[in-house]
Parts: sequence; structure tokens; C-alpha cells
Amino acid sequence: MLKRAIVVGASSGIGEALVRRLCREGYLVAGVARRKEALDHLAAEINRPGEARFFVYPHDVIETANAKGVFDRIVTELDGLDVVIYAAGVMPRVGEDQFDGAIDRQIFEVNVIGAMAWLDLAAERFQAQHGGMIVGLGSVAGDRGRRGQPAYCASKAALHTYLEALRNRLSRFGVHVLTVKPGPVHTPMTKGLDKLPMAIEADAAAEGILRAMNRRADVAYVPFQWGIIMPIIQSIPSLIFRRMSL
Ligand SMILES: NC(=O)c1ccc[n+]([C@@H]2O[C@H](COP(=O)([O-])OP(=O)(O)OC[C@H]3O[C@@H](n4cnc5c(N)ncnc54)[C@H](OP(=O)(O)O)[C@@H]3O)[C@@H](O)[C@H]2O)c1
Repeated sequence: MLKRAIVVGASSGIGEALVRRLCREGYLVAGVARRKEALDHLAAEINRPGEARFFVYPHDVIETANAKGVFDRIVTELDGLDVVIYAAGVMPRVGEDQFDGAIDRQIFEVNVIGAMAWLDLAAERFQAQHGGMIVGLGSVAGDRGRRGQPAYCASKAALHTYLEALRNRLSRFGVHVLTVKPGPVHTPMTKGLDKLPMAIEADAAAEGILRAMNRRADVAYVPFQWGIIMPIIQSIPSLIFRRMSL
């Protein structure tokens, strides 16, 4: 059966790789992001004459008041909806001695407030139709408060908890909620960073995410090895963790 998906944050990195894989698997995909040219470029690569699979919806997730209008238009134009993936995110560089409320606010607006705006819309629709899948891209960074990125870590921890609560609400309606926690991935977000342990390519991350969707996992580390490493890192006492350069 033809499936219909929204990917928020489709214009680069992991979201873009997910779009390619979903379209190859036969999905109709609506791509949401600010950069229309990047989305148009992807549509030109994917769509064949008379057979469009990828549809472009430029939108800034910070403009939460506009989310419902875009969401409703997508549902009408795709003639239904089965999957919503929130892959939008920002991780501005901050120095270890920098404390900047404007940057912290921007991180939360995209990584948390934008996510809740889109996934609340998905939750309401999927609850009513008794089915559907919600996927949120968290991070291993949300499992521990690392000194390099306080607001980014906090935003991902908030997203993880929000997704867990959505799962607890929606499972009785047959709606599946998947929390993805990737380790480092080579994308524009991480370009130029030197410490990227066990980093993988965006397409490998997308492959791991689709595998987790197919086996209907609740929480999936990508690659799976992080699911072994992170519980160990989480068990390190704070007094020791603060002395480590993690
Ligand atoms: N790369 C990693 O190592 C890594 C690891 C763990 C988790 N993650 C998470 O995975 C997700 C994807 O990251 P990525 O590495 O693929 O990053 P990326 O290549 O920088 O892509 C980020 C996506 O978010 C969109 N976006 C950012 N701000 C937006 C806004 N205001 N409105 C709408 N869309 C917006 C961007 O589109 P526009 O710029 O066109 O708006 C882009 O499509 C993020 O949530 C990230 O935190 C990444």
C-alpha cells in the first residue's frame, strides 16, 4: 500500500537521506524546511515525469502559528498521512566560556518548540485515525549534560521525554512513537568538528532509522553500538563525569 510521510528538516543531512530512502521504498513524501532551493533540488533529483514522489513545503518551524496551515495542506495534497518524522534541528557552536540566552532560545525553538508544534498535530490526527507513526530525532547528547553544549543537550533530553509521554498517550490508539538517538553523523551540522567518535554517514543513519521504524522500536540508538555505550556513560557518577572531557 502507498504510504505518505512528512519529513520536517528534509533539506539536508539525515532528513534528506531519509527522504531519498523513503521515496525509494515507495512512499509519497512531503519535505519541510526553510531552504526552498535545496528542497526543489532534491525534488528534481527524485521525481520522474508523470511520477512525483517528493513534494516541497517551505516553512520555518519557529513560526509555530503557521504549522497547522502547512500540515493541513500536506494531508489534503497527499490524501492522508501515515508517518511524521521530525528531523529539524540546530546545534550552533558555543565556546566553553560562552553563555548566550539568544542562542539557547534558538536551539529550544527549533529542537523542542518546533518539534512539539509538528508532532502535536501528528498526534491529534493519528489518535483520531487510530494509526500512524511519529519519529523524533533526539541524540546521544540528550542522555547526559555535556559541558560543551548545555542547551543542545537539554533540548534533546526535553525531546526524549516529550516523545516518551506521547508514546504513553498514543499506544492505546495504535499509534507508534519512535525516539531515535543518533551518535555523531557526518552532515552540515557537524562539518568542521574534530571530535566525532564512531561517526557514520547520513545515509547509514537513515538506513538505521528505517530499520528501527520497520521493527517498531520505541527507542533506537543509531548505530546500535551507542545502545551499549550510553548506559555505561550514564552510569558514571557526576563527580567523575565532570572531570572527563566528554
Ligand atoms: N549530525 C549529527 O551528528 C547528529 C547526531 C545526533 C542527532 N542529530 C540530530 O539529527 C537531526 C538532523 O541533523 P543533521 O545532522 O541532519 O543536520 P543538518 O544537516 O544541519 O539538517 C538540519 C535540518 O533542519 C532544518 N532546520 C533547521 N532549522 C530550521 C527551521 N527554523 N525551520 C525549518 N527547518 C529547519 C534544516 O533545514 P533549513 O536550513 O533548510 O531550514 C535541515 O533540513 C537534528 O535534530 C540533529 O540534532 C544529528
